[in-house]
Amino acid sequence: MLRKLQILLSAQAKVIISYVYDVGNYLRYNGDSLLVPKKERLYYRIIVDAHSIEKGLSLKDRRPGFGQEKIKRLMNEVSSYDISLGTFPLEMAVGALRAYVDLHPPGEPEQPFVEKVRQFVERFNGLDGVAFTGGVQSAVLPIGGPALTLLEGLQCRRSVRYFDEQLIDRTTLLELVRLAQGAPSQCNRQATRVYLYQGRHQIDRILALQGGARGFSQSISNLAIVTSDTRAWRGSNQRNQIYVDGALFLMHFLLAAEALRLVACPLNLAVDSRVERQIRDVGRIRAGERLIACVALGPMAGTAIRFARSPRRPIEEVVSFVTEE
Ligand SMILES: Cc1cc2nc3c(=O)[nH]c(=O)nc-3n(C[C@H](O)[C@H](O)[C@H](O)COP(=O)(O)O)c2cc1C
Repeated sequence: MLRKLQILLSAQAKVIISYVYDVGNYLRYNGDSLLVPKKERLYYRIIVDAHSIEKGLSLKDRRPGFGQEKIKRLMNEVSSYDISLGTFPLEMAVGALRAYVDLHPPGEPEQPFVEKVRQFVERFNGLDGVAFTGGVQSAVLPIGGPALTLLEGLQCRRSVRYFDEQLIDRTTLLELVRLAQGAPSQCNRQATRVYLYQGRHQIDRILALQGGARGFSQSISNLAIVTSDTRAWRGSNQRNQIYVDGALFLMHFLLAAEALRLVACPLNLAVDSRVERQIRDVGRIRAGERLIACVALGPMAGTAIRFARSPRRPIEEVVSFVTEE
């Protein structure tokens, strides 16, 4: 009995030590850490700020002159950026700022600000070999049609922030979850759960706490929350597997939506513990399950939409062929 207790306590102590290690690692390398050179932190900050501009531009009801504070910050960040770290942040930022200028025709009251942005963007015109890929793109979504192949789904999937308030029927939602269940899961634990919401009031409350769907939350009539059950995991070494399994399920869920010709947008649940508890209460989520992400869903409405381009990093920045010494 004593021996068993000793083993249990030692396992729990290892959990604490591993979390202390995680905290140290996060404090050392996170995007606010002063131990990370500023120019390296800027790389990601520019991408995030540029994306929030292209996202604003992609919305159905975009507000003229939106995001001025963010744009000023983005221009400052771009001005301080060290281009030797890669041109990708500039490609996104300048592309998004160009699209911002293009979507504000002369004569709008915001012109003085837009003019400043235009002058800023012009500074980059002579930059050789750099394509300014950020911004927005338009497309007409097809209605219905056969399910997509995996390759088509991988090539076509985009986060869509246009919804037409139509409810998705339960048969389709169950089919969606069934397909997502095809995701791999460590030792086949399948600890992921999906909560589905179609009530206006409940969706509004969840999205108000979530915060990442501002500007299009009112059009979302079908919302999922993906969670993962902590009870499936043991010991210090498995402490992060809950998120690995949960994220793989989430990806399958998004691809399944694409295959079934639904539109979807993942919505982060990167919230502090207080908001996590509130979302858990409103969403009636079981204690012990961690929040992975929300997904806004809708039928493809056959309408013309704009979506954020979200260009991809050059493959050389992503892949390393590691050869033997
Ligand atoms: C975990 C996760 C959380 C996200 N959260 C949000 C969000 O809160 N709001 C939003 O509009 N988009 C959100 N997105 C969508 C990303 O912005 C989008 O995936 C990215 O820009 C790439 O574009 P794509 O999905 O169209 O390929 C999220 C994506 C992921 C994977």
